[in-house]
Amino acid sequence: MNILVIHGPNLNLLGQREPGIYGEETFEKLNSDIMEKAASLGVGCEIYQSNHEGGIIDKLHEAIGKFDGVLINAGAYTHYSYAIMDAISAIKIPCIEVHISNVDSREEFRKISLIGPVCRATVSGFGRNSYLLAMDGLVGLLK
Ligand code: DQA
Repeated sequence: MNILVIHGPNLNLLGQREPGIYGEETFEKLNSDIMEKAASLGVGCEIYQSNHEGGIIDKLHEAIGKFDGVLINAGAYTHYSYAIMDAISAIKIPCIEVHISNVDSREEFRKISLIGPVCRATVSGFGRNSYLLAMDGLVGLLK
């Protein structure tokens, strides 16, 4: 089983970016925790980050035939990208929407997710653990 993890815009700045909301651990540490989790579950994992909508869409297309499931934190694109929403629908690979913060407890615009309805599930508000919980859930769904 192979899982693709997609991080959207600004997530590469984890550790420096608004630590009160997103925590003080670095992006590199998060990724090594994700890889460790995948290894403990016995699944393959690739991690991709892009600050560009088109890069995320291209990566979703490339996932066809290569990955069994996707974890996606689309960052702010979550709230307004019809193109990423359409790409998730198009690839027909189970995707889980992930957020570090509890998006429903923040500004009004963050309460809208265009990608949530086309994902199998959403994990939000557990800090970096959202990714690890989402991976458990996704692997469970795929087994
Ligand atoms: C985020 C929440 C988004 O609203 C925000 O734009 C992000 C990060 C999160 O992981 O909590 O970039 O997706």
